[in-house]
Amino acid sequence: MVRLFGFGAGLVFVIALLVAAVLPRDAVPEDPIKKIHLYPRDAQWQHDGPMGLGVFGTFDRAQLQRGFQVYKEVCSACHGMNQIAFRNLSALGFSDAEVKALARSKEVPSINPQTGEPATRPALPSDRFPDPFPNETTARLANNNALPPDLSLIVKARPDGQRYVYSLLTGYDKAPPKGFETPAGLHFNPYFHSVNIAMARPLNDGQIEYADGTKATTDQMAKDVTAFLRWASEPELEVRRQTGVATMIFLAILTLLAYLTYRKVWAGVKH
Ligand code: HEC
Repeated sequence: MVRLFGFGAGLVFVIALLVAAVLPRDAVPEDPIKKIHLYPRDAQWQHDGPMGLGVFGTFDRAQLQRGFQVYKEVCSACHGMNQIAFRNLSALGFSDAEVKALARSKEVPSINPQTGEPATRPALPSDRFPDPFPNETTARLANNNALPPDLSLIVKARPDGQRYVYSLLTGYDKAPPKGFETPAGLHFNPYFHSVNIAMARPLNDGQIEYADGTKATTDQMAKDVTAFLRWASEPELEVRRQTGVATMIFLAILTLLAYLTYRKVWAGVKH
C-alpha cells in the first residue's frame, strides 16, 4: 500500500513537470537597452605586449605623461584618484623637481596651526591627489545627482577595463536610435551599461595642448588617459611581469637539472 502511495506521488510530480514543460510561457519582454548597448571596442596599448598577450609589454612613458596631463587638465575637475600620491609620478619619468612643482600646484586641506581653523596648504610629494569635491553631497550636487567615481582603480573595477574606459570616452558621437529618448540631464553613450550616462562628453578634439606636441585628438587623449589609468590601477605591472619571466626561466632550468639528476641516479638500475 505504502509502495503504491509512493509511486502515485512520484507520478503526480512527473505529470506536473511534463505539463509545466509543455505549457506555453509568457514571453520574457526583451530589454530594449540590450539591443543598443555595445561591448567595448578593440584597442591595443604598448604595455599589452606583442599581440596584446600581456606578457612582455612595458609602459610607454611619454604616453603615461600625456595621459596624466589629460587627467590633470580635464578629468580631475570631477574625479579624484586617492590611491595615487604625487611622488608616485616619478615612475612616469618626471624628475623630483617636476614632481615637487606638480604637487605644489594643488591645494590640500590642512589646519591653521595658529588658530586651529580648517585651512589649505600647497600639496607635498607625499600627499595623495586631492578630491575635487569636499564630500559626496557636493559632488552629486554638481553632477546632476550622479557621483563621479574615484578613478584610481577604475580599470580594475570594470570588466575589460582598459577597452571599456577607452570606448566610453570615445563613445559620445553616436546618435541614439530612432524612438529612443535620452532622459534630460543624461547623455547617450552605448558603452555605458544603461546607455544613459550622467557624465557629459569630457574630451573633444584639440581640447588640450600636449606638452610633447602630439596632436590632441579625442581618440589620442582617450587612449593616453586610459594608459595612465591602467598604470594607476597597477603601478607594479612591469615588475610583476619581469618577475614572472625570471621565475619561468628559473623553473625551466630547475626542471632540466632535476631531469638530468633523475637520469644519473637511475642510470645503473635495470628495468
Ligand atoms: C564634469 C564632470 C566630469 C568630468 C570632467 C569627467 N567626468 Fe567622468 N564621470 C562624471 C560623472 C558625474 C560620472 C558618473 C556617471 C553616472 O553614473 O551616470 C562619471 C563617470 C565616469 C566613469 C565611470 C563609468 C562607469 O562605468 O561607471 C569613468 C570611467 C569616467 N567617468 C572617466 C572619466 C575620464 C577619464 C575623464 C577625463 C577625460 C572624465 N571622466 C571626466 C563626471 C565627469
